[in-house]
Amino acid sequence: MSSNRNNIVYSYIEEYMDKTHKKNDAFFEALRAYAEENHIYIVKSDVERFLRTLVSIHKPEQILEVGTAIGYSAMFLLESAGEDSFVTTIERDETVLAQAKENVEKRGLSDRVRFVFGDATEVLENLSGSFDFAFIDAAKGKSKDHFDKVLKNMHSGGVIVTDDVLYMGMTASDELATKKHITITRRLREYLDYLCSDDRFETVILPIGDGVAVTYIK
Ligand SMILES: C[S@@+](CC[C@H](N)C(=O)[O-])C[C@H]1O[C@@H](n2cnc3c(N)ncnc32)[C@H](O)[C@@H]1O
Repeated sequence: MSSNRNNIVYSYIEEYMDKTHKKNDAFFEALRAYAEENHIYIVKSDVERFLRTLVSIHKPEQILEVGTAIGYSAMFLLESAGEDSFVTTIERDETVLAQAKENVEKRGLSDRVRFVFGDATEVLENLSGSFDFAFIDAAKGKSKDHFDKVLKNMHSGGVIVTDDVLYMGMTASDELATKKHITITRRLREYLDYLCSDDRFETVILPIGDGVAVTYIK
C-alpha cells in the first residue's frame, strides 16, 4: 500500500490517479507507449495532466520549450492552450528532433511549431521573441542556466515550469542523494533556493512526477 516508486508519489496514489482520469486519445496513448518502449523520456502522466490544466487556465499564446524529445509535450501544450498558441521548442538530439517533426506533422500542428536544433545553453543566448509560458525539461543540472536565459524572453505575468526538480527525492534528502548524483542534486538545491527566495518570482514546488517547480514572474 505504501510502496513508493520514485520517492515522491506513492504508487497507490499514482495508480488511483491514472485510473480516475480520462484517457488521452489514441494518438497520444500510442506516442507514450512508443516512448516507454524505446526508453525516450517524456513528461510523466501526472505532470502532463497538471500542465494541460495549467495552460487551459493560463492560455499562453507564445510557448517556449527546452527539450523537445519526440514532440509529445509540445503538442499537448499547444492543444490545451488553444488555437492561437504557438510553440518554439529546442532540442540538441537530431534523431529525436526528426521524430518530433514527423509527429507534429501527423497531428496537423506543423504551422504552430518552430523547431530549433542546438544546445539550449547557446540557442537561448540569441533567441528572439517574448513568451507567456515556458517549459524547461532538458538536462537537470542545466535547469538554472536555462531558466536565467529563458527569463530575459519572458514578461511580467509569465509562467515558467521546470520538470524533474526533486530528482527521485534526492534534492530533498541527503540520505537519498547518492555520491554519483551529488553534483546534480547540489545544483537542483541551489536552483530551488533561488526560485523560492528571489522577490521577482512566486514559486511553488509540487511533489508530482519527479518534482515540478512552477514559477510566476511578478
Ligand atoms: C525529458 S526529454 C524532453 C521530453 C519532452 N519535453 C516531453 O515531455 O515530451 C529531454 C530532452 O532534452 C534534450 N536536451 C537535454 N539537454 C539539452 C540541451 N542542453 N539543449 C537542448 N536539448 C537538450 C534531450 O536530448 C532530450 O530529448
